[in-house]
Amino acid sequence: EKAEIGLIGLGTMGSNLALNIAEHGHRIAVFNRTSSRTDAFVESAGPLKDMVVPCYSLEELAAAIRPPRPIIIMVLAGKPVDEQIAALRGVLSDNDIVIDAGNANFRDTMRRFSELSGSGLTFIGMGVSGGEEGARHGPSIMVGGTEDSWKRVENVLTAISAKFRDEPCAAWLGTDGAGHFVKTIHNGIEYADMQMIAEIYGILRDGLGMEPKEIGKVFESWNKGRLNSYLIEITAKVLAADDPKTGKPVVDIILDRAGQKGTGKWSVIEAQQLGIPATAIEAAVAARVLSSIKDERQAAEKAYGNIGVERISGDKAALLKDLELALFAGKIAAYAQGFAVMSGASKEFNWNLPMPTIAKIWRAGCIIRSQMLDTMAEAFGSGGASTNLLMAPAFIAMMKEAHPSLRHIVARASEAGSPVPALSSALAYFDSYRQGRGTSNLIQAQRDFFGAHGFERTGEQGAFHGPWGSGAGH
Ligand code: 6PG
Repeated sequence: EKAEIGLIGLGTMGSNLALNIAEHGHRIAVFNRTSSRTDAFVESAGPLKDMVVPCYSLEELAAAIRPPRPIIIMVLAGKPVDEQIAALRGVLSDNDIVIDAGNANFRDTMRRFSELSGSGLTFIGMGVSGGEEGARHGPSIMVGGTEDSWKRVENVLTAISAKFRDEPCAAWLGTDGAGHFVKTIHNGIEYADMQMIAEIYGILRDGLGMEPKEIGKVFESWNKGRLNSYLIEITAKVLAADDPKTGKPVVDIILDRAGQKGTGKWSVIEAQQLGIPATAIEAAVAARVLSSIKDERQAAEKAYGNIGVERISGDKAALLKDLELALFAGKIAAYAQGFAVMSGASKEFNWNLPMPTIAKIWRAGCIIRSQMLDTMAEAFGSGGASTNLLMAPAFIAMMKEAHPSLRHIVARASEAGSPVPALSSALAYFDSYRQGRGTSNLIQAQRDFFGAHGFERTGEQGAFHGPWGSGAGH
């Protein structure tokens, strides 16, 4: 019996996806460049062994799969993907489908898609979220490619995906780069979410002088309320864990220097290209960059006389409530930005991205899964969020309740010297967004003064210049 699908690249993510596919009753042909890894994988498959067809050449792999052949490649993003596609072109035939399941830059995916079009083969760029656990037991899957190619793999992908109330968290989102774009923005939002959580942790640690375990308890209780989400849940677990080597809380022995592989940065670059503000995501990326220059930060701490973070006083229970609501409000603003970037990209690239579906397939399986995403799915589904999530009636109500806390926390943290770049960006975005009369009239005047750029007048059509007199640029 032929395999339903193939997979190349038996690293952790690849192996877990393959086992997940096998477990759902779909025969899978696997190939790895180093054949010993293929053998080790088959060994590790245990009772699922029968559903796995080990292959030791690409020819063998192609021969093992039912045409049109879908082959998932799970190799390092970048050049290895192009090399793998080139190698596959020699062994595949018309209508076969190469599926890149890595964290590719969607611009590479668009290029690969168009390079393959006309060759008979087709390409799917597939965003997979949920880490190693997700890949094994149910990820969220964001697919970009032709609708026909999706139809060929829909069965397998919906079967292996996470489920939210029985609904699969896998969907076809549009052509060429749509899936990888949405995955990139998912990660951008993930960066903002994580950064805002870290900022709240900073306030609890430095402003309130709390110990990791106590902070963990706070997150644990928040996870039972409106902030209920995977990231809050794991934050609580992380803060509760001890380092076996020293007996200290693990967070206290981890160096405060964050890594990044590119998706957050791509989100910000694309947001800028599209002219859509994604300030909370930008702040989160910048915070990771600043975190990475630890030596410089330590030198600066000395240069500025170790001002440190002042203690934040006041009623602790009230403060904790404010922190919870601040995080909630900040999160809403960050998601509003992420969705706005997607809707800008949808127009730019003619994807017709289905926002309600995106929110739905993020409700389970992925790293940013949360209770709030269900409310977002409803808001997009009813059309209430079509301009911006912040305009959906349910979110207007939530922000009305929560923004005073965000304001209060950003103010207290700033006064205490505890950096809150993502939370304050989120607040500034919200305040700018809801300000019917802003301050860009002054910017227009300045532009006209030094560069004769002209301005519009309130209540009058046409281009005008100011009465700047001598010294003005024009
Ligand atoms: C996911 C994660 C996953 C991975 C990212 C994180 O959705 O499962 O986002 O894709 O953890 O690569 O990116 P950084 O390494 O840049 O934090």
